Amino acid sequence: MAQLINYQFLCILIFLSLPFSSLSERCHPNDKKVLLKIKESFNNPYHLASWIPDTDCCQWYVVECDRKTNRINEFHLFAANVSGQIPKEIGQLPYLESLTFHKITNLTGNIPASIIKLTKLKRLTVSWTNISGPIPSFLSQLENLTSLDLSFNNFSGSIPSSLSQLRNLDGIRLDRNKLTGSIPESLGNMNPSFQYLYLSHNELSGTIPRGWGDLNFALIELNRNKLQGDISLLLGKNKTIQILDLSRNMFQFDISNMEFPDSLTSLDLNHNMITGSLPQGLTQLRMYGFNVSYNRLCGPIPQGGSLQNFQYTEYFHNRCLCGAPLPDCK
Ligand SMILES: *[C@@H]1O[C@H](CO)[C@@H](O)[C@H](O)[C@H]1NC(C)=O
Ligand SMILES: *[C@@H]1O[C@H](CO)[C@@H](O)[C@H](O)[C@H]1NC(C)=O
Ligand SMILES: *[C@@H]1O[C@H](CO)[C@@H](O)[C@H](O)[C@H]1NC(C)=O
Ligand SMILES: *[C@@H]1O[C@H](CO)[C@@H](O)[C@H](O)[C@H]1NC(C)=O
Ligand SMILES: *[C@@H]1O[C@H](CO)[C@@H](O)[C@H](O)[C@H]1NC(C)=O
Ligand SMILES: *[C@@H]1O[C@H](CO)[C@@H](O)[C@H](O)[C@H]1NC(C)=O
Ligand SMILES: *[C@@H]1O[C@H](CO)[C@@H](O)[C@H](O)[C@H]1NC(C)=O
Repeated sequence: MAQLINYQFLCILIFLSLPFSSLSERCHPNDKKVLLKIKESFNNPYHLASWIPDTDCCQWYVVECDRKTNRINEFHLFAANVSGQIPKEIGQLPYLESLTFHKITNLTGNIPASIIKLTKLKRLTVSWTNISGPIPSFLSQLENLTSLDLSFNNFSGSIPSSLSQLRNLDGIRLDRNKLTGSIPESLGNMNPSFQYLYLSHNELSGTIPRGWGDLNFALIELNRNKLQGDISLLLGKNKTIQILDLSRNMFQFDISNMEFPDSLTSLDLNHNMITGSLPQGLTQLRMYGFNVSYNRLCGPIPQGGSLQNFQYTEYFHNRCLCGAPLPDCK
C-alpha cells in the first residue's frame, strides 16, 4: 500500500514539475530540425514567427504533436503569405497523419516526391494554391490516405490511374484544375467504402468508368467538363447517391425509362444533350435541387412530389418540355 501511495506521489510530483523543467520540452529534436529547415526554405516568413529554435516545437503555430509519441502529426499551413515551393523536407516528418497547404497564392512548383515517405499520412490537402504540373502518380504509395484533396490548383495532364490503389480512401477532390484526358477505367474499381468524387471544372473528356455501376457513391460532381455518353449506371433503385451534378458536359442519353434511388436529393443535368421525357418516378423523390434546363427533353413535366417546387429556369431551354412551372402543354 505504502509503495502504491509513493508511486502516485511520485507521479504527481513529476506532473507538477513538468512545465518548469527543461525536460518538459515535448518536441522531438529531429522534428524541430526539419521544421526549422522548412521555415528557412520559405525564407523565414512572418507566418512562422513562432517557430523559434529554443522553444518547444509542439507549441508552434501550424503544427501539432501527437499526445503519446510527441511527434509532429499535423501540419496545416492555411491562408499564409508564404512564397515558394512545398519544401522537400516535409518528407522528413515521418509521423505526419494530416498535411494541409490551403489558400496560399504564391505556393508554386510541384508536389515533391519526398512526400511518399509519409507512410502514416491519412489526409492530404493541397487546395487554392498555384501548385502545377501533373498529379503525381506516386501518391498511390500513400497507402493510409483516407482523403485526398487537390482542388483549386493549377494541375494539368491526366488523372493517374494508380489512384485506385489507395484502398482506404473515402473520397477524392480534383475539381478546379486543368486536367485533361478521360477518367481512368481503374477509378471504377475504387474500394467499396469510397463515398465522394469531385472532378468538376476541368477539361475531362470520354465516358465515365463502367465500374461506377457497382460502386455506391454519396456524391459525384463532374460538372463543367467535356464528358459524353450515358450515365444511367450511376442511378437505379438500389443506389445510395444523394448529390449528382453532371451539368455542362456533353452527356447524351434517353432519360425516359430511368429509375432513381430514394436517396437522391439533388440532381443537376443542365447543359447536356439528354433526350426523352421526364419519368413519373421523379415525383416519388424528396429533392431540394433539380435542374434539367438546356437539354433536348420533350413532353409534360410530371405533376407532383417536389417537381413543381422548382423554377421555370430549372426546366427551360428544352425541345418541347411543357406543363407547370413551364407553360401548359398544347
Ligand atoms: C505573393 O507574391 C507577390 C510578389 O512577390 C507579393 O506582392 C504578394 O504580397 C505575395 N503574397 C500574397 C499573399 O499575395
Ligand atoms: C507578403 O509578404 C511580403 C514579404 O514577405 C510582403 O512584401 C507583402 O506585402 C505581403 N503581402 C501581403 C498581402 O500581406
Ligand atoms: C495563382 O496566381 C495568380 C497570379 O499570381 C493569382 O491571381 C491567383 O489568385 C493564384 N491562384 C490561387 C488559387 O492562389
Ligand atoms: C499505415 O499506418 C499504420 C499505422 O500507423 C502503419 O502500421 C502502416 O505501416 C502504415 N502503412 C504503410 C504503408 O506504411
Ligand atoms: C498554371 O499553368 C499554366 C499551364 O497550364 C501555366 O502557363 C501557368 O504559368 C501556371 N501558373 C502558375 C502560377 O504556375
Ligand atoms: C443493383 O442492381 C443491379 C441489377 O439490378 C445489380 O447488378 C447491382 O449489383 C446492384 N448493385 C448493388 C450495389 O446492390
Ligand atoms: C438552372 O441552370 C441554368 C443553366 O445553367 C441556369 O441558367 C438557371 O439559373 C438554373 N436554375 C436555378 C434555379 O439555379
